[in-house]
Amino acid sequence: MSEPAFSAAPAEPELVFLVAVADNGVIGAGNTMPWHLRSDLQRFKRMTMGKPVVMGRKTFQSIGRPLPGRTNIVLTRDVAFRAPGVVAATSPVLALELARADALRRFAAEIVVIGGAEIFAQWMDRASRLEITEVHAWPAGDTFFPPFSAAEWRQSARERHAAGTGDSANFSYVTYRRASAA
Ligand SMILES: NC(=O)c1ccc[n+]([C@@H]2O[C@H](COP(=O)([O-])OP(=O)(O)OC[C@H]3O[C@@H](n4cnc5c(N)ncnc54)[C@H](OP(=O)(O)O)[C@@H]3O)[C@@H](O)[C@H]2O)c1
Repeated sequence: MSEPAFSAAPAEPELVFLVAVADNGVIGAGNTMPWHLRSDLQRFKRMTMGKPVVMGRKTFQSIGRPLPGRTNIVLTRDVAFRAPGVVAATSPVLALELARADALRRFAAEIVVIGGAEIFAQWMDRASRLEITEVHAWPAGDTFFPPFSAAEWRQSARERHAAGTGDSANFSYVTYRRASAA
């Protein structure tokens, strides 16, 4: 008698970028964000909770604490780096391995890359979805979202919102998927 069909291969978690980008491309100024968007902070929490999040050491320091309820994977080249509540990774390969294993343990379908610019630039080729909050403002800044090719990505959703209580600008939630994805 033949064995029933069986696959032990776990589904690969999706690698998602979550970022807020001003209309002039700015994502940061002086290691912080040059706007306040309460609505977007609440969405950030919803979209990352229970998942592994990958970030650069500078972004971790700008947040100032580990994000609760998420596995905080911090990329640094400093082998001596330690911080309570975070897992340090000294290379993208190691960070990805840690994130995949954590997603599997948590039954999380996504690994969320939360910045900053250096990490977005290095991980762009691995991402399958970009969740961008367009911040409709032109702030001064020193850190920019890396350019991404319109040929490689297609916009699959766009929602515009007027600034609510605690928001310093109007904003839009925009989703991009790899053009090759069905
Ligand atoms: N608007 C948004 O959604 C958003 C999101 C995130 C961040 N930000 C802003 O972006 C700014 C920070 O971005 P950033 O580009 O300056 O820094 P970053 O990407 O957060 O961190 C850079 C650091 O990551 C580590 N790193 C980078 N590549 C690595 C590699 N291949 N292997 C191991 N470690 C590696 C290095 O840490 P070591 O120096 O320790 O080796 C490097 O200095 C801040 O202003 C922040 O507020 C904005």
